[in-house]
Order: sequence, then C-alpha cells, then structure tokens
Amino acid sequence: MRRPQTQKVKPCFKRHVAAGLVLLLLVSMNAGCALFPKRIPVKPAPQAFTFPKDFLWGAATSAHQVEGNNTNNDWWDWEQSYPFEERSGRASDHWNRFDKDFQLAHALGHNVHRFSIEWSRIEPREGEFDLSAINHYRQVILSLKSKGIKPIVTLNHFTLPLWLARQGGWLSDQTPELFGRYVQTVTEALGSEVHYWITLNEPMAYAFHGYMNGKWPPGIKSLPKAVIVLKHLLEGHVSAYGKIKAVYVQKGWPLPMVGIAHQVLIFAPCTESAWGDRFSAKLRNRLVNHLFIQAMVHGKAHFFGLFRVQLDKPRTLDFIGLNYYTREFVSTHGMQLSEMMGEECAEKHPRNVGQRNFLGWETYPEGLYTLLKDFSGYKLPILISENGTCANQDGERTDFIAQHIKAMARAMREGAPVMGYLYWSLIDTYEWGEGFGPRFGLIEVNYKTQERKIRESAKKYSEIIRSGKISA
Ligand code: FCB
Repeated sequence: MRRPQTQKVKPCFKRHVAAGLVLLLLVSMNAGCALFPKRIPVKPAPQAFTFPKDFLWGAATSAHQVEGNNTNNDWWDWEQSYPFEERSGRASDHWNRFDKDFQLAHALGHNVHRFSIEWSRIEPREGEFDLSAINHYRQVILSLKSKGIKPIVTLNHFTLPLWLARQGGWLSDQTPELFGRYVQTVTEALGSEVHYWITLNEPMAYAFHGYMNGKWPPGIKSLPKAVIVLKHLLEGHVSAYGKIKAVYVQKGWPLPMVGIAHQVLIFAPCTESAWGDRFSAKLRNRLVNHLFIQAMVHGKAHFFGLFRVQLDKPRTLDFIGLNYYTREFVSTHGMQLSEMMGEECAEKHPRNVGQRNFLGWETYPEGLYTLLKDFSGYKLPILISENGTCANQDGERTDFIAQHIKAMARAMREGAPVMGYLYWSLIDTYEWGEGFGPRFGLIEVNYKTQERKIRESAKKYSEIIRSGKISA
C-alpha cells in the first residue's frame, strides 16, 4: 500500500530543509563564499578630511635660533660662559637671508609664518629703541606679505636684552611693565601689517629650565623664584595684551588676534596600576598644561598652596597656541608635593614604543588628538604653534608630519576649533643648549656654506597643504 503522498513528502521535505540548513551553516561559516555573504553591518570607509579653505599652514622659527649674532642677549652671554660644544654664533644667518628663506616657504605653499622679534635688538639699552632694527622687522613682514604669507609675530621667545637680564629679568617686578612698553613700541611701528601676535613662548618651560633645573639662563634652582617668575610672565602677558589692543583701537586698525605659544605634553603614569603615578601624571597635566591658560582665560588660577594669582583682567587670550612634541612618563616616590610631581621614567618605559628622535623624544601623535580634545573645552580657537621633530632620517619627519596632521584632523572632525598648523621649524636651527646637532628644519642648512636644501619631508608636507586634505 502506498502511503498517502503527504506522509511521504513531509519527511523528505524535512530532510531537504535539514540538509539545506546544514549547507547554509557550512556556507556561512565559509566567509569566502560569495553566494551567501554574511550580513555584517558595514562601516562607511573613513573619508579623507578636508581642511577649511582659510586654514593656516606654515612653519615657525625664533630669532635667536636662526638670525645669528644676537650678541646682546642673555642666551648669548650664557653660551659664552657655559661649556657648550656649540654656540649660536652665525646660526642660520637668517638675519641676512630671510627673503630667500621665505621664497622657499612660498614655493612649499605656506600661507603663514611664525617668527620672533628680538627684544635686545629693538631696545639694546634700557629705554632706547633702535629704529634700524624696527625697520629690519618691517622688511621681514613685508617680504612675507609680498609672497602671500601672513606673519605671526612672537614678541618674546625666551631671550632677554642683557641690560634687563642684569637687573633681574622676569624675577624683577619691573619687567612686566618694561615688556609692555617694548610691546607698545613694536605694535605702533608694525601693527598695521600684523594680524596675529604671540606675546610669550612657553612660559612654563622658561620658568622650569631657567629657575628650577637651572639648565637655561639665569641658571637658578629655586621653586619660590620660579613661582615669582611665572606670576611676572602672566602679568607681562596681560600688560602686552592690553597695549596691543589699545594701539589698534587708537589707530583705528581692525582688531588683531593675540595669544601665547604654550608648551603641552602628554603625561602618563609609569605604572598604570600605581595610584601615586596616576596622580602625579594628573598633577603635572594640571600644572604644566592648564595652569597658565586658566589664569589667562579666567583672570585667576591657583595650584594648591604653591601658586595663586589674580590678574587685572580675565579673557586676555584670543587664541591658544599649542607647542606639542611628545609624552612623558612619570612616577612618584613620596607624599610631599615636590615628590608627588613625580620623576620621569621615559627611557626604560615599555609603553614608550614610538619612534625616538635625535634628542630621544618619543613620537606620539595620539597625544595631539587628546590635547586638542582637552583644550577644546576653553572654547577658543587653537593654533598648533609648534609641532616637529629633529629626525634621525628625513623619512621619520615625513611620517611624523602626516601622523600628527591626521591626529589633528581627527580632533577637528569631532569639533576641535583648530585654526592652523605650524611645523617647527622652517629651516634648521640652533637648539637651546644642544647646538646644531638636532635638525628640525623642513629646509636643511649647511652651516659651513649657509646653503639651503629643501628636504623631501617638506615636499610631502607641501602636498598635504596644496591638496587641503589628509586621508583617514
Ligand atoms: C620648543 C621651543 C623651540 C624649539 C623647539 C624644539 O620648546 O619653543 O624654540 O627649541 O622646542
């Protein structure tokens, strides 16, 4: 007897379904099968980031490091008395060759250039202003502008006129006002041609190296003195900010943007699981990265009992310039504040894995992203006022630049208000106390002949500038 068809079909159907399911399972386990692709939600391919049309692209230098023969300042004096192997001397002879150097910057597509004015040339003796020096810097600015390059002018990049250093430099409570007077003179003479001013370069680094570890002039090692210097630097900045704005108002010029170039570092704990190390990394972050900026933004700042400052004015910053190079690993060994600040353990740290440059600094592009996100909280435009490396080989510089610009683009995509990027430095420079060994320049300088040679990394940076984009 034949079984009714339905009874026959059912198990057969079941078998087919079962076989089909097994097959499907096998097929789906085989990821390479094109017939039955897995349905995994596909993330859209990250797109290249396009920078705003008016983004500032360029490089930076400072007077003492490139001009040569700045004989009338405290650094020159320091170099003569200290057993340095190399002194700044003729440096890159930029005082005489600035126009040619700017031609190269122009050829590389830069639309902005940061340089500093040497106070000791403008005011060689107290209260005497040298018109020929002022005129020199006017020529520098006009040379840039004639090539379509906007000047960003730093008013004080570490060096002080000798007469001022001899009467106490930033330790003296007269200095903020004297700085204000110098700034007013420079602004009146050059302001009509300048939109971006930087009052001070790296005040925290200045106070630390000059007054705590004593490696820079005046070679003092005293925490209380470093604190006084910091306060005076802040007052000097506030004075300069007020003078610049007042001159522009009085002359009826369109108001400029005034900021500082502030050193920032990533601080990481030597041992992640040690709360003391984590605490010292946080403490350093607060002191080194934020204290000075907080004071300028809010008009006051304090750091436990150690530092307390109340300024005449809040909001004396139109943009924040960040100088970013590397990260530091710190650990702590005690409960005193100085011990809590920690000691560095970078050399032997296993997480210090990035490429190291000639000076041993780790390349850590992620840090730029982190800091940009962090500093976005101040709700002010941010300029990367320095970022660079003294590479052992030029290819490392090419990678360094691309990786940092990518990190910056990532932060910008997430809303960081970055207005520009300046590579340190345009040409090879004299590095403070280190001599001519570290080569930071986009342009190589032959110190024997003063010949210039554009490095391959400069050309790669130029390609990014011209395309206005960076791939993700
Ligand atoms: C920064 C300084 C700059 C240069 C670079 C390498 O801290 O501002 O003058 O020396 O480091």
